[in-house]
Amino acid sequence: MKEINIGLCGLGTVGTGVVKILKNHQDEIMYKLGSQIAIKKVLVHDIHKQRDVVVDQEWLTNDPEELVSNPDIDVIVEVMGGIEDTNLLMEQALRNNKHIVTANKDLMAVHGQKLLRLAKANNCDIYYDASVAGGIPILRTLSDGLASDRIQKIMGIVNGTTNYILTKMTDDKLAFDDVLKEAQELGFAEADPTSDVEGLDAARKMTLLANLAFKMEISLDDVETSGIRDISQEDISFATSLGYTIKLIGIASINNGKVEVSVEPTLLPQDHPLALVKNEYNAVYVYGEAVGETMFYGPGAGSMPTATAVVSDLMEVIKNIRLGISGNAYVSPQYEKLLKENKE
Ligand code: NAP
Ligand code: HSE
Repeated sequence: MKEINIGLCGLGTVGTGVVKILKNHQDEIMYKLGSQIAIKKVLVHDIHKQRDVVVDQEWLTNDPEELVSNPDIDVIVEVMGGIEDTNLLMEQALRNNKHIVTANKDLMAVHGQKLLRLAKANNCDIYYDASVAGGIPILRTLSDGLASDRIQKIMGIVNGTTNYILTKMTDDKLAFDDVLKEAQELGFAEADPTSDVEGLDAARKMTLLANLAFKMEISLDDVETSGIRDISQEDISFATSLGYTIKLIGIASINNGKVEVSVEPTLLPQDHPLALVKNEYNAVYVYGEAVGETMFYGPGAGSMPTATAVVSDLMEVIKNIRLGISGNAYVSPQYEKLLKENKE
């Protein structure tokens, strides 16, 4: 069976995990796909940097053309981050008939619907499960596992960095800036952690969840967002003394066709299941009309959990390539309708 070749954009926290899983879990991959996945090229900024994983020096390049225009590459795995430049690269890759797997919620929240549309036009897939809640397969659950249901509400903790900060400020009385630094060292925080602490990262994830769950085109501007930057040790002590825990909670709900999405610090009773979600862990409640209440819990950030989601998506794309189908599971039907109407 033809080996599938990938171009890996990024060899940082997530990219390193992807290389490790492709190497260490070869048996699982072979069992499922019947062949191995080969890395052909790896895009990085600095090809001479010391890496946490051993890679073939010949793979490394800082020229994106060697990936997106490389006829030998079937799938681009984008784990480098960035929005506008990355969007242009992904568009180019799709036009060159490359499938995409990405962990980039910033990109998908801003350009996702356009990219999905372009993918469809080129018979390509874009899978982005790793972009929301790290190792929890929540997008896959919404699009596949709960596909037959009508989702009414989603609520949860979808940012690992802020949950890590709030946990350490509450349990260990540590100072905000010290814990943020720790979260950065552990690889949970974004390159610019402002998006974590100001709630933007969570808002982007809630947008992706809401679009998928409610089959809508909700933009980031529609999300009421506030972060945790101003939460002080005094706020936390006061909440604790009253029997509450502060968590950054995202909520997306639909009522009579009206969607509301918000991200804000919230007081939860200390015995509430979301109050018990600690450190970088995430948890997401999904309420479906038929299924009722479901809850998903797991590591929301970090190298290996996120890489697991990336490689699982990659395997799904490869299955689709083999079957000669394009999944494009996550295109919003409403967006397609809008585009069609605009054209007419
Ligand atoms: P990171 O550690 O900063 O790694 C980024 C990698 O991409 C580095 O290898 C860097 O090269 C390379 N890179 C970045 N911009 C580039 C450019 N313009 N040209 C060439 N190479 C470039 O980032 P990360 O934490 O792995 O995150 C990557 C993506 O995954 C982001 O979209 C992030 O939001 C998402 N994500 C991260 C996590 C997490 O827990 N970290 C979880 C879920 C999703 P050098 O190594 O040479 O600098
Ligand atoms: N910075 C993100 C977080 C990474 O802390 O949740 C995972 O998306």
